[in-house]
Amino acid sequence: MIHTQQEQNTYRPFGLLAEVTYRCPLHCPYCSNPIQFTQTHDELSTDEWVRVIAEARELGVLHLHFSGGEPLLRKDLSLMISHAHAAGLYTNLITSARGLTYQRLLVLQAAGLDTVQISFQADEASLGNIIAGANAHAYKLEAARMVRALDLPLTINVVLHRANLERLEQIIHLAEELDAQRLELAHTQYLGWAFQNREMLMPTSAQVAKATAIAADAQVRLRGKMEVLYIKPDYYSDRPKPCMYGWGRRFLTVNPQGDVLPCQTASVIPSLRFENVRQQSLSRIWHESEAFQRFRGTEWMPEPCRSCALREVDFGGCRCQAFLLTGDAAQTDPVCSLSPHHEKLTSLLANIQPVNSAAGFCALSIRYRTNPT
Ligand code: SF4
Ligand code: FES
Repeated sequence: MIHTQQEQNTYRPFGLLAEVTYRCPLHCPYCSNPIQFTQTHDELSTDEWVRVIAEARELGVLHLHFSGGEPLLRKDLSLMISHAHAAGLYTNLITSARGLTYQRLLVLQAAGLDTVQISFQADEASLGNIIAGANAHAYKLEAARMVRALDLPLTINVVLHRANLERLEQIIHLAEELDAQRLELAHTQYLGWAFQNREMLMPTSAQVAKATAIAADAQVRLRGKMEVLYIKPDYYSDRPKPCMYGWGRRFLTVNPQGDVLPCQTASVIPSLRFENVRQQSLSRIWHESEAFQRFRGTEWMPEPCRSCALREVDFGGCRCQAFLLTGDAAQTDPVCSLSPHHEKLTSLLANIQPVNSAAGFCALSIRYRTNPT
């Protein structure tokens, strides 16, 4: 339980991910939405989201990310944005762009939308549509141009994996051509659907080395013009990423049914029980709920993290990844070479087959996300 002022400052959420629906027109095989989720009834109402937004502001949240699924499928999105804007929150729309018309974008901008992030699967339609499992690429191009025409800042986000890494230079050029302010090149995090598909998505070490060099060149070449963020694949690292900047420390997620989670995929950990905004205030959930307390700080850590100098740098890595790879979320993330389970990763990487083409991606038994009804 958080008591002192110092603790309040240490554990203060800056960002809230509002997953307003799990419905989505795309079927990306690396989606972070829950695999077992099939029903969309019982989504939070407009009034409930408006209350969550007000409570988030009181709690100290600064950035509100409207996400999903596809947030544009919520007809009340502009209303939520206007409440967030009025409360002084910086609003970001994370979208596949399917369904974004010029008229809709005008309404969202008038409501106070600050910035738009569009996901791309590739630089060109044939590969992009195969990966998305839907006809989406042309809509994304059009939407990106509309965003810039209205002078809204544009972030392009591309999840990287073995089927699109060979196109990284072209992807960077597309982002330049679309006048994006920011390009996020994020290697797949092997959670959710991506964990199911990891053998098909995981790049070879040669692909990763080449991509890392291309991204580094782009960061230098485009400095001052476009911010290029390159998120390395942690399976190929020997130290984990500080997932969420520490559990229950800076971020929280509210899912479509109102459950509050320390990260998007935390529901994969079966021992955790999540409180719901329909029963509790956001503040109480953040400060006192068992799920947020469970891996907060360093007390929960096992060795080797407990006595490691980096324990407050990487916070022992990712709890969801630790669970998926070891069956125990309280283990050191196996990405860490000091973890007793690190060999689980090295043996996986040793067996990766070189498959790079879109045709190869298609021919493999990839599991596309199935959409809830
Ligand atoms: Fe991080 Fe734990 Fe590995 Fe140390 S032992 S580097 S704290 S994951
Ligand atoms: Fe859940 Fe890392 S994604 S803790």
